[in-house]
Amino acid sequence: MDKSFWDSRWENAETGWDIGGVSAPLKAYIDQLENKTIRILVPGCGNAHEAEYLWENGFKNTWIVEISQLAIDSFRKRYPAFPVEQIIQGDFFDVDAHFDLVLEQTFFCAIHPSRRADYAAKMSEILEPSGKLVGLLFDFPLESGPPFGGSEAEYRTYFEPFFIIKRMERAHNSIKPRYGRELFIQFDKKTTD
Ligand SMILES: C[S@@+](CC[C@H](N)C(=O)[O-])C[C@H]1O[C@@H](n2cnc3c(N)ncnc32)[C@H](O)[C@@H]1O
Repeated sequence: MDKSFWDSRWENAETGWDIGGVSAPLKAYIDQLENKTIRILVPGCGNAHEAEYLWENGFKNTWIVEISQLAIDSFRKRYPAFPVEQIIQGDFFDVDAHFDLVLEQTFFCAIHPSRRADYAAKMSEILEPSGKLVGLLFDFPLESGPPFGGSEAEYRTYFEPFFIIKRMERAHNSIKPRYGRELFIQFDKKTTD
């Protein structure tokens, strides 16, 4: 699933993953954040509803990264208030910057399962020492995809080397089609001493 795969999904408007707004679990998490100056990244952001919500709520250090220019064009058309200099067009795995928080929303399930360990390592690399990865991971068997499913036990194998698993539990406020099929996660980057 390279750039051309995702471009073609966007070109053909095959964007069934787009729930049309910030997801309730992420909204609830964002709403309890007190420090609005933190640097936040939304990777594989698509129409970037989370970034829009963050920006509208005063989180001005929000960045997005997206491999498909068509997705970025769609977001910019939909939400022109977001600063263009905080939009990274490119591959998440090439991001060369640091953040306090990364918000995961149907990006992990979009990458090939063979890259899951790389995803965990890259997240650790781009997070500040006290950084967090927060969001939603699907909780259904890993078969064909995208979206590629997985389980808590499998996810632990990728993330435990780099993160303290603070929360990984069934989301109680998922949208109806995803109800009972999502895990809310909060992974805190392990500090090295
Ligand atoms: C399933 S969609 C989810 C979009 C958005 N997070 C949402 O929930 O609506 C996955 C998105 O990740 C983008 N993407 C896939 N691989 C990527 C990569 N390696 N780096 C950055 N973006 C990527 C795709 O273009 C697509 O827009």
